[in-house]
Amino acid sequence: MKIAVIPGDGIGREVMPEGLRVLEAASRRFGFELQLTHIDWASCDWYVKHGQMMPDDWKAQLEGMDAIYFGAAGWPATVPDHVSLWGSLLKFRREFDQYVNLRPVRLFDGVPCPLAGRRPGDIDYLVVRENTEGEYTNLGGVMYAGTEREIVVQETVMSRFGADRVLRHAFELARSRPRKHLTVATKSNGIAISMPWWDSRADAVARDYPDVTVDKQHIDILSARFVLEPGRFDVVVASNLFGDILSDLGPATTGTIGLAPSGNLNPDRKFPSLFEPVHGSAPDIYGRNIANPVAMIWSGALMLDFLGQRAAHDAIVEAIEQVLVNGPRTRDLGGNASTTEMGEAIAAKLG
Ligand code: NAD
Ligand code: IPM
Ligand code: MN
Repeated sequence: MKIAVIPGDGIGREVMPEGLRVLEAASRRFGFELQLTHIDWASCDWYVKHGQMMPDDWKAQLEGMDAIYFGAAGWPATVPDHVSLWGSLLKFRREFDQYVNLRPVRLFDGVPCPLAGRRPGDIDYLVVRENTEGEYTNLGGVMYAGTEREIVVQETVMSRFGADRVLRHAFELARSRPRKHLTVATKSNGIAISMPWWDSRADAVARDYPDVTVDKQHIDILSARFVLEPGRFDVVVASNLFGDILSDLGPATTGTIGLAPSGNLNPDRKFPSLFEPVHGSAPDIYGRNIANPVAMIWSGALMLDFLGQRAAHDAIVEAIEQVLVNGPRTRDLGGNASTTEMGEAIAAKLG
């Protein structure tokens, strides 16, 4: 497996070594070979030296990879966030057509749940986020800048091709799960053009999935139900921005966003897919070796699953489960273990 390793910024650099430690333990146990290419660009440090986030030939350098294992990008003290992210992560998602952002949410045994009375099994769903269009655009502009009549316009773009393919992916995932239930996030009451249209595409695609039950929920009440009735959810499909917000809220209800993994998938496999934690570079804790490495490690497991190593994926998730029950834990989980100690414990369980 040819993997591009891009730690990026901040705690991306602290959790990446733990992700690699566990991948290497998995490769020994399951007998597959990892060919790692370490990359220091797609980071704000690189930007400070070169005036851009990535070299001009970034695409050629990554195109032949089987996957990209990514830490986090962003260091607002040196580079404005929209510059660093549009110059790296958002470029990967778009140019490699990673149109599905798969973000599992699960309450683990041994992790204190901030919601009263919830136990493992009560929170276990997948957020499927549209990842290449929607509210994330750079179309628009500021007019009459600097005057009292200043106007800003920022467009949302959705395409039938783009919506249908991510909806279809979500229906397929729902079909593969025991409950076969899909929740479509909408806001058709207020966002009066794009969201009724999004709903109509969900209706159209649903015709091919009569075995999947569907409910549409406005994003406001859907968010409330993530907190109040998380057991209602099985697979949730959402536009780019709604999916972004839901995929921090969901993991927060399971204790910490330090656990949350993601796969930015190009299901057609024309381009490499990218696997990364949901969280960012966490400047507030960087440099202390206290970040939770589980999101990075679990993202590595998703990568192995995507590349055909289902058994290795399952073994890593099992090792995470065991360590969360009675192993060392980082501060966000109420313990005082370091990033390294937690990574070592998970790698050791893997054997
Ligand atoms: P963040 O996710 O970096 O941090 C939010 C909070 O969660 C912080 O208090 C942080 O300490 C905590 N946290 C995050 N990950 C943790 C972990 N593994 N263990 C323990 N605590 C953890 O979000 P932010 O503060 O909004 O963003 C910081 C920078 O990261 C910005 O530049 C932002 O644009 C960028 N960002 C990048 C990505 C990405 O690369 N995918 C995602 C989100 C934010
Ligand atoms: C995420 C992040 C990114 C997003 C940012 C850093 C652009 O929050 O991966 O969830 O909004 O997609
Ligand atoms: Mn986010």
